[in-house]
Amino acid sequence: MSKVSIRDLDLAGKRVLLRLDLNVPMDGATVVDDTRIRAAAPTVKYALEQGASVVIGSHLGRPGGERNPRFDLTPVAVRLARSLRMNVRMAPDCIGDVATQMSSELKPGEVLVLQNLRFHEEEEENDEDFASQLADLADVYVNDAFGAAHRAHASTQAVATMMPSAGGLLLDREITALDPIRNGEAGKLGFISGGAKVSDKLGLLERLAAISEVIAIGGAMANTFLLARGLPTGASLLEQNMVEAANEITAIAAEENCNLLIPTDCVIAHGADEPPRAKPLVFGEEDLPEDWQILDVGPATVEAFSESIKDCDTVVWNGPLGLFEREAFSGGTRAMAEALSKLEDTTTVVCGGETAAAVARFRLTPKMSHVSTGGGAALEYLQGLDLPGIAVLPDAEPDDREESEEDDA
Ligand code: 3PG
Repeated sequence: MSKVSIRDLDLAGKRVLLRLDLNVPMDGATVVDDTRIRAAAPTVKYALEQGASVVIGSHLGRPGGERNPRFDLTPVAVRLARSLRMNVRMAPDCIGDVATQMSSELKPGEVLVLQNLRFHEEEEENDEDFASQLADLADVYVNDAFGAAHRAHASTQAVATMMPSAGGLLLDREITALDPIRNGEAGKLGFISGGAKVSDKLGLLERLAAISEVIAIGGAMANTFLLARGLPTGASLLEQNMVEAANEITAIAAEENCNLLIPTDCVIAHGADEPPRAKPLVFGEEDLPEDWQILDVGPATVEAFSESIKDCDTVVWNGPLGLFEREAFSGGTRAMAEALSKLEDTTTVVCGGETAAAVARFRLTPKMSHVSTGGGAALEYLQGLDLPGIAVLPDAEPDDREESEEDDA
């Protein structure tokens, strides 16, 4: 990593303010997916092993600057404690007298979790006074919240300017995995792009159309490309106002010799709630009834996508190819995940919460080279944008960098 790393800091006897992204899917007070919690644990353990105490700050959801029990971080802290196999304390607020008192009482080897940072509107306003109150809770700051690094918030940006700062182990892992793609140094690149909207990843599609060998488009966003080519889309979810953009991406791909694939067959149903009436359809062979929707790609499409990426050095996948949460429309996403899992000499990088959840559901996470904990952050990073939470961290001295890399080897 080109930034100062937690490994470069002397942590013995210090209090570390550790920004994590513990924004995990919840069902009431139950953590539905603990991937981000487990991914954060190594940095906490590392700091504790070095003789530090750790004050953890995170957001959960979008409470809009108000206290809201729905976004209480306590159940997440309980799950973190389970992952660390130790007790952690929970502060009732992230700033104020109680948080200050609790952090001042921490002994080396102890962990304090602060209540949701976004219960204060000053967090998202990147407010300096709020950031300085966070800074007062510790001696050094470590940002390991890759998933929130695209946000210029008080706990990801302003606070880093107020105390000795570094990136954490997860941030390092993410940057190491994504940098070759971002820098166009990932060899023959394939991009599988799914999910609902072209508009969500326009910048990324434009960038990757210029540097990829293959772009394979599925999910509801493919419907916009089908429409742009004059193919029937029935009552499918699509973005009428993105047809022009779809044509532009197609033109960039053609100019750059990038093979852009869209579905040739699909699974349709009268609606997402009517799986029993779901049926396959091959474009050009049958008409798509006007009031039916495309809800998954078909087998011929997955076969073509899989064939197209098999000689790639690196494949990035973002966005499911269909409504995978419903069994009847999960076939395309499952088959794509299986195809990726079988690539032996290819680096496979999965990003986006839904795609990571799909791969986890099919129990194929360990078969991927890297599953990013970032959603929007990963897409912005791959697009080549500077993420405020990373940009603000001090650059490593060339010697530090070499030493950190040797440590990692
Ligand atoms: C995410 O889940 O993408 C991050 O935690 C950022 O959350 P946000 O989009 O609410 O800022």
